[in-house]
Amino acid sequence: MSTEPRTSRDQATRRPVTLPQLAEMKAAGEPIAMVTAYDFPSAQVAEEAGVDIVLVGDSAAMTVLGYDSTTPITLDEMIMLAAATRRGLETPLLVGDLPFGSYQASDVLAVESATRFVKEAGCDAVKVEMAGISGRLADKHQSIDRAAAIVAAGIPVMGHVGLTPQSASALGGYRSQGRTAQQAVQIADDALALQEAGCFAIVFEAVPAEVTETIMDRMQVPVIGIGAGPSTDGQVLVFHDLLGIHEGHVPRFAKRFAQLKRSMVEGMAQYTSEVRERQFPSEEHTYSISPEELQRFREIVAPGKAWDVADFID
Ligand code: KIV
Repeated sequence: MSTEPRTSRDQATRRPVTLPQLAEMKAAGEPIAMVTAYDFPSAQVAEEAGVDIVLVGDSAAMTVLGYDSTTPITLDEMIMLAAATRRGLETPLLVGDLPFGSYQASDVLAVESATRFVKEAGCDAVKVEMAGISGRLADKHQSIDRAAAIVAAGIPVMGHVGLTPQSASALGGYRSQGRTAQQAVQIADDALALQEAGCFAIVFEAVPAEVTETIMDRMQVPVIGIGAGPSTDGQVLVFHDLLGIHEGHVPRFAKRFAQLKRSMVEGMAQYTSEVRERQFPSEEHTYSISPEELQRFREIVAPGKAWDVADFID
């Protein structure tokens, strides 16, 4: 068991991340780095950066498809994005996020949808959101049943508690959860129930750090936090938030590690200006032809001359 942190430097020697390895990392206190990615280039970035887990999150609905919430994205759209992500990855564990409507109705639907992520997109695991802490007890039991059914079908499941965006309306919007003792107990209960159902890891989203820390004592599977404080076994951030690819609202928990949107707009504006000023393309971006061939071509197409293209096809 390695306790060395994985970095981009030792990428050449890295092997695909497995579930036992994640459990070992938790046991060794080695932090787990997880990010979202949604396509081939973002997957390649995650691969080269040496992250441990890549989630094709249903946040793609907003970051990639331009919707104002996660609920409209379809399973077909998620599968297409996950398959593209798979093609850019070799090492990180790949998790597909079951979108709203693809697992709630029945265990059969949940298993069918999860199976598509594995067979059609090459995912290693799927993620399900808990019904949300203001969901009724029946919703809560359903979420646990769905997770257990997928695990029983042989597909590893990551759970998700706290702020669960698919039930944002029921939760009163995109706001932190577990800020009263009553809500915090429900988050603890959700997390333990998902652990009991066989989830290999659980995401805690937008939960006060002290609440997370208190629950951590009871967690045997890795907990990956997003806005849940420093006591978790790992952290996850949304690709576009951490690299600054959009300029809209950024949640309190999302640290920007780069400002790519600004660089991209600057680059695009420079391109536009050079096209308009006829500075681009310059010679270095242009193909050439030998003077003899050019002379011959010009003679053939000289004004007033006709040619038969058949004479120029082998
Ligand atoms: O969809 C997503 O990006 C997520 C992460 C915030 C964990 O669920």
